[in-house]
Parts: sequence; structure tokens; C-alpha cells
Amino acid sequence: MTPTRNFLDIDDLNNDEVDSVFALAREFAQRPAPRSLEGFFCANLFFEQSTRTHVSFQCAQMRLGGNVINLSPAQLSLATKGERLDDTAVTLRALGVDILVARHPLVGAVGELAAAFEGCTINAGDGTNAHPTQALLDTFTLRDLLGDLRGAAVAFVGDIRHSRVAHSSMRLLRRYGARVRAIGPECFLERGDVPEGVEIERDFDAALPTLDALIMLRVQRERFEKMPIDDARYIATYRLDAERLALLGPRAPILHPGPYNRGVEIVDDVTLDARWRYREQVRNGVLVRTALLHRLVHGW
Ligand code: NCD
Repeated sequence: MTPTRNFLDIDDLNNDEVDSVFALAREFAQRPAPRSLEGFFCANLFFEQSTRTHVSFQCAQMRLGGNVINLSPAQLSLATKGERLDDTAVTLRALGVDILVARHPLVGAVGELAAAFEGCTINAGDGTNAHPTQALLDTFTLRDLLGDLRGAAVAFVGDIRHSRVAHSSMRLLRRYGARVRAIGPECFLERGDVPEGVEIERDFDAALPTLDALIMLRVQRERFEKMPIDDARYIATYRLDAERLALLGPRAPILHPGPYNRGVEIVDDVTLDARWRYREQVRNGVLVRTALLHRLVHGW
């Protein structure tokens, strides 16, 4: 039976469903996952470059015994032959693909694919809009490291406006009761850039000692034409460097969705610090995506 449930936005899963994905991900850290995607075809359709997310989905699909097809823009006829997005989706479905994992630079494009595909579509990032599986892995990682997230002060720092990671992860962390804060300059952060209930701050140094966890973000230069703030000023105010590391609590984890730009949002010292939990984050990404795929195909 072809799975029909989509995961396009973090609010497509309710809290019980997210909890169940997390519980299964925890199990998969202890024992091998079942071969529950055997006989299913997964297509990973990435119109935007990706290392982690693409390979992470591929690892998850292969752990479950699925058949995996990887497509990047150069191989797609819509990139060079003018085929429409919805027609590509119809074609993939007719070819026998059951699960479509898609990333696209335009907001809403993955939703369009999903509507035409009529199978199971997972959003691996659409423009600045949403990246719901990153929200799952960020929240899973922070729950693992901090325990109960109710009241925990979690800050996202940097280019909030263009970060689909921030947009999705903030919402899920709020649902788990975290006090979410957004820190950045006006050109990357205004009220409309964050969900309701997220506190906006400009002074990174003042916030640092009060945080339970920190999520650093890349400046998404591919999403705007000209850097809206002087690079030197951005670095002076928002880069996590050795002095700022000293202001952060000794047990506060530092996360980053990757790819991280050394010298811009973080310095080398950060990657050597015991609070830098990027590797766990990436490992958890595979566990969480494995659990999600199993649930989307076999139910809750
Ligand atoms: C992010 C993305 O593509 O949205 N990376 C990721 O998926 N782990 C963030 C980024 O590109 O900066």
C-alpha cells in the first residue's frame, strides 16, 4: 500500500505523533531499525544543494531497506527542458515512486509537488519557509541534552529572516515549552520574522549568560543580493568567538544546522569546545528521519 501522509510543515504532526517519532528514534539508537521500507521506492529530489539533509535521508531510507533514487537539478528535465513541477511529480508517481523527499529554493514549491504526487511527500526545505525534519532533530537533540524543555531558554542567533530552520524549529521548541529567543540585527530580524511568543533581542553579549542552549545560524547569502550589514560589524556583534564562549554557561549546548562558516558566525575554538554538539545533532538527524519514515509508512 502506498503511503499517503505528507510532512510539509512541522504542524502537520501533533505532539503525540512527534513524541512517538522521538521514542522510536531513541529505540533506533539502541537496536537496528526494521527493514520496513523493503519494496518501497524513495526519490530524493533536491533542487537546491545539500550535503547533510540529502545524505541523512538517504541513510535513513537505506537503514529501513528502501530502494533509493537520488535526483539533483542537472538530471531533471524540468531544469533544462521546461517541464512543470507538478508534471515531474506525476511522472515520478507513475514510475512507481512511493515516497518523495524534496527541497526547492521557492517557498511553496514542495507543497505543489506534494499536491500532484499523491503519495507521501516530505519537505526537506522550501526557500525561507520550512524545514520540518530539522525542527525534529533540533528538538530531539535538545531534549536529549537538557531533558524537559519547559522554561528552557533557547536562543537562535544570526540571519533569522532567511532561515527556514529557525522558522520551523522555533515553532516546535515553543510547543515543548521552551522560552525561545531570537537574536540578530534588524536587517535579519524583525517581529514578522518569528512566530508569536518568541522574544527578540539585539544584544548577544547580554543574553549569553542567561541561555540554556544556543543555535547559531549561517548568513544565507544565496537568498539576498547584497549583504545588508557590513560584514565586519556583523562579525563584531554576532560571531560566537572565544570571549563570547566565556560568557555562555558551562553546560549550555551549542548547535548549528550546518553548513557552518568558520570565521563568520563561529570561530575555530567553537568546534573544539565541549559544548559544541553538532556531531550529535547530525547523528540524531538520521535516527529521527528513520523513525519518521517508518511512522509515515506504517502509521502511529
Ligand atoms: C540548512 C538549510 O538548508 O536550510 N541546512 C540544513 O538543512 N541542515 C541551513 C543552511 O543552509 O544554512
